[in-house]
Amino acid sequence: MLNWKPELYGRSLLRMADLTDVEMLDLIDLAVALKARRRAGIRGDLLRRRQVALIFEKSSTRTRNSASVAIRDEGGSAEYLTKSDIHLGAKESVKDTARVLGRIFDGILFRGFSQATVDTLARYAGVPVWNGLTDEFHPTQILADLMTIQETFGRLKGIKLAYVGDGRNNVANSLMLGCAKAGVHYVNCTPPELSPDPVLVKEAVDVASRNGVTVEIVNDPKRGVAGANVLYTDVWVSMGEESKKESRLRLLRPYQVNMDLVKATGNANGELIFLHCLPAFHDHETAVTAESGALEVTDEVFEAPFSKVFDEAENRMHTIKALYVSAMADLSAL
Ligand code: CP
Ligand code: NVA
Repeated sequence: MLNWKPELYGRSLLRMADLTDVEMLDLIDLAVALKARRRAGIRGDLLRRRQVALIFEKSSTRTRNSASVAIRDEGGSAEYLTKSDIHLGAKESVKDTARVLGRIFDGILFRGFSQATVDTLARYAGVPVWNGLTDEFHPTQILADLMTIQETFGRLKGIKLAYVGDGRNNVANSLMLGCAKAGVHYVNCTPPELSPDPVLVKEAVDVASRNGVTVEIVNDPKRGVAGANVLYTDVWVSMGEESKKESRLRLLRPYQVNMDLVKATGNANGELIFLHCLPAFHDHETAVTAESGALEVTDEVFEAPFSKVFDEAENRMHTIKALYVSAMADLSAL
């Protein structure tokens, strides 16, 4: 039986702040149930005749394919639209595009640069809009991250997560609030130059204190990760920030997730997992230059038994499906 909540019907997800704490946890529970349903071989009709537009200004492996497969699994379909396929923001305003696509589709998932674009789509489309990553936020990623933590430890409350790296990127911003909402202690280990926006930090601190946990920004990674159950990192240079590559490599070298840092958690032989939203620069094949080797995480950590990055990647699909089902399920199929 799916634990479907009527209050999420028709709702968009543009940033973590759009969900109450309980709604966020309910979505994760729905994703767990949908994962079990798929594992049991059930491809149902929960999204029968539902059609979504997937607008992608930036490239994607996980989000794009999760968004396509999630809807097909339950009887719906998706249209993948890149910048060169539609007039969005060039010959046609975002507002007009939203009003057109909202007449044709039952929902829109957007990945791109500006948060204002996804906010405008949601304002004018008249159908649910999901943020599949902007420069500022990546909320659908965080649902999968929290789901993976819950699956591994059987709980979220009281877990300590240390994010290590670019402390002000889209993933870090959304993760900080997601952890606060879930009752997960959050430590952001980052150089002062890459500290998150104080407004976002205050928002997260307020939510965290309500849930009896803490949000900290720490410059010394070894100090920050002490006691962590989850080590999390992301690329040092996000999409659209390629011109900052040199300074990022210089600033973030001391923040690489390697076995020394794993040991500094004090949990190397206990309750510890490694997460990364992916894609990751962890070996020579993916590194920026052949000489640079691993960047944000070493192969040793990435390939370790405590690395849950592929469970996390799979969970992108189940959590996006949960968003679809909660927002636009065919109620007669529930
Ligand atoms: N984690 C994530 O969003 O991956 P993609 O860029 O492949 O979608
Ligand atoms: N911070 C990364 C996340 C990729 C999923 C980026 O924006 O490129």
